[in-house]
Amino acid sequence: MLEKKTIELKITGPLQAANALRDARRFLRAAGVPAADIVESLDAKRRYILWYPAVKATADKVKKSLLPVVHPSLNITVRSLRSADWQTKWQKDFKPFYLTASARVVPLWFRNKIAPAPGDIVIDPGMAFGTGLHPTTHAMANFIASAKGACKEFLDVGTGTGILSIVAARNGAKKIWAVDISKDSVTAARRNFRLNRCRCDHAAAVDFEHFSRPGTFDFVAANVLVNPLIAWRDKLVARVRPGGYLAVSGIWHETAPHFRRHYGSADIIPVAEVKKDGWVAILYRRALPVGSARKGATPCSR
Ligand SMILES: C[S@@+](CC[C@H](N)C(=O)[O-])C[C@H]1O[C@@H](n2cnc3c(N)ncnc32)[C@H](O)[C@@H]1O
Repeated sequence: MLEKKTIELKITGPLQAANALRDARRFLRAAGVPAADIVESLDAKRRYILWYPAVKATADKVKKSLLPVVHPSLNITVRSLRSADWQTKWQKDFKPFYLTASARVVPLWFRNKIAPAPGDIVIDPGMAFGTGLHPTTHAMANFIASAKGACKEFLDVGTGTGILSIVAARNGAKKIWAVDISKDSVTAARRNFRLNRCRCDHAAAVDFEHFSRPGTFDFVAANVLVNPLIAWRDKLVARVRPGGYLAVSGIWHETAPHFRRHYGSADIIPVAEVKKDGWVAILYRRALPVGSARKGATPCSR
């Protein structure tokens, strides 16, 4: 996602400026920045929107177009990142925090600085998406936690750092498959699986479009973007065993009605929905064949 980019456009605002940042994101999109290239982050004091174009002149031009329209509480900067900046940028923003009620995410470089807790998930993000700070990851992790004991076989589509697979393992997953189109992500995920003693049966750099290994899962998680989610609808649903769960996120709120229309049908039933900072996550349950009794899983409502 972010590799080989050295120019950073950064929009910074106070924590309470979520709406202003959401508008700024919309202006970035209107300026032609693809949704998948926009990174959102926050720390204890501020929220950020980050974009890494290949050319500084492009970033300067977009900054100029944003300045008259964004909320005055926001600050926009463009800078060239030295490789040292690049390697430490995540480290500055990424501190231990609770992702679910029982799982605290601990950046690798904090591991020896704080007392360990039983639910700790140690993450070295490397170049992958998935520190857990993003609202989509947060929603997905909590869907998985709410299905504790009902996600023995887990498929993680777009695993990034592997964080959702690790949450699944902590909530009872015994068979875990994790795939991502990015080799850097799979490298990061494998490292995080080792750091957390999480057994992953299958971690592969593959485009889910071409993912053909057979099998169904109790829980399928796909935190990607709305267009691939729509394109992969039948492929994703086919991976969920009857009675199992499909959690999706990466749905920007304006596209949610369009998304729901594509996912609305008798074979999957929405059982929970979360909206945070403009991002929507939905948990579906695959319908059981007519006449069969429900067993095993607990309803996941929030
Ligand atoms: C938003 S990140 C999610 C990371 C992590 N699962 C989380 O929830 O924090 C989306 C991930 O999907 C991956 N991805 C994008 N397109 C993909 C595709 N066609 N097939 C498989 N993975 C894909 C990206 O490389 C990225 O790591």
